[in-house]
Amino acid sequence: MAASIFTAVPRAPPVAVFKLTADFREDEDSRKVNLGVGAYRTDEGQPWVLPVVKKVEQMIANDNSLNHEYLPILGLPEFRANASRIALGDDSPAIKENRIGGVQSLGGTGALRIGAEFLRRWYNGNNNTATPVYISTPSWENHNSVFVDAGFKDIRTYHYWDAAKRGLDLQGLLDDMEKAPEFSIFILHACAHNPTGTDPTPDQWKQIAAVMKRRFLFPFFDSAYQGFASGSLDKDAWAVRYFVSEGFELFCAQSFSKNFGLYNERVGNLTVVGKDTDNVQRVLSQMEKIVRTTWSNPPSQGARIVATTLSSPQLFAEWKNNVKTMADRVLLMRSELRSRLEALGTPGTWNHITEQIGMFSFTGLNPKQVEYMIKEKHIYLMASGRINMCGLTTKNLDYVAKSIHEAVTKIQ
Ligand SMILES: Cc1ncc(COP(=O)(O)O)c(C=O)c1O
Repeated sequence: MAASIFTAVPRAPPVAVFKLTADFREDEDSRKVNLGVGAYRTDEGQPWVLPVVKKVEQMIANDNSLNHEYLPILGLPEFRANASRIALGDDSPAIKENRIGGVQSLGGTGALRIGAEFLRRWYNGNNNTATPVYISTPSWENHNSVFVDAGFKDIRTYHYWDAAKRGLDLQGLLDDMEKAPEFSIFILHACAHNPTGTDPTPDQWKQIAAVMKRRFLFPFFDSAYQGFASGSLDKDAWAVRYFVSEGFELFCAQSFSKNFGLYNERVGNLTVVGKDTDNVQRVLSQMEKIVRTTWSNPPSQGARIVATTLSSPQLFAEWKNNVKTMADRVLLMRSELRSRLEALGTPGTWNHITEQIGMFSFTGLNPKQVEYMIKEKHIYLMASGRINMCGLTTKNLDYVAKSIHEAVTKIQ
């Protein structure tokens, strides 16, 4: 028999966050805690099906007018329209002027990928691979790979996190924008920056927008946590809406994985804001070509759940309450962890735990301290020191705080 044609295939390294969860599952220690994966957990440490989602799922199951025919290539029209409305706001000038469009996608990742594929084909000249794409340092690790796989050859980083002050490096960020070649693409986290939990203030966003406008830089927003940062959908969409009000053309990749708890249904939307109806329609016609060869047409269940919820005032109100429940639990865990660390006298300052927002906190633990937490304490967190606040519960808070205290005092 001839050797396998796959003999030369090298083994790819595992995806860190999924590997961490697999290691956690195998760990038999009863004290184990998973602070790695980016998903909401209840105070019992369990996944949460939002009550509004359960209700709408039953409505869908009982609706005999629905079937399993293919959706249009760009997705369910009422989902796309409502999803874009959530991002841009009811009063959006771009919606009123009919110069927006949506592409239903497989999660936020799908929206980023379809957006990246489009930009590579059509932005700044045809088949453009040389335009620089700027990603924050640090960022969600998939940003880089998505743009590389879409064909971009010049992926760069921009300053974002100031480790010493545990906050935003605004000057570094603005300097990088000043230096970037005109028409570069910038990936911006719309809110609840992953992994740092640190967002620009409205005033800082204004400064960012001013430089981007002057330097002709393209904003590609990634909105994966709308509602999680402040508990309010409108507040969390402030930056995107401000850029639209400033006349930018932009993309916004929306994920409904976290704020609807629909992780495995793969529900996302790429909102496109253009200058006029005609150019948005032309853009969408090209998006259709890209989707056709990627997943041909999207799945319906998650999109129906989101569309039904967003188009009914009563269900919408219920959803907002569900989002607030999740956001409030995160806020509570932040203040409880901070007060425990301060009560223990853990060296360093811990105000960043409550100042950071969204699902994650960038603890400041170094890789050796993280290793200690995993190996000695069975507490799983990313090597960057990022923890998912939802992994904390009233039952494991004391243990986690004492373990952080030990890690910081014993390991330098
Ligand atoms: C910043 C960021 N963008 C996008 C995504 C992708 O979300 P989805 O699971 O909907 O593809 C995530 C998920 O963790 C994220 O953290």
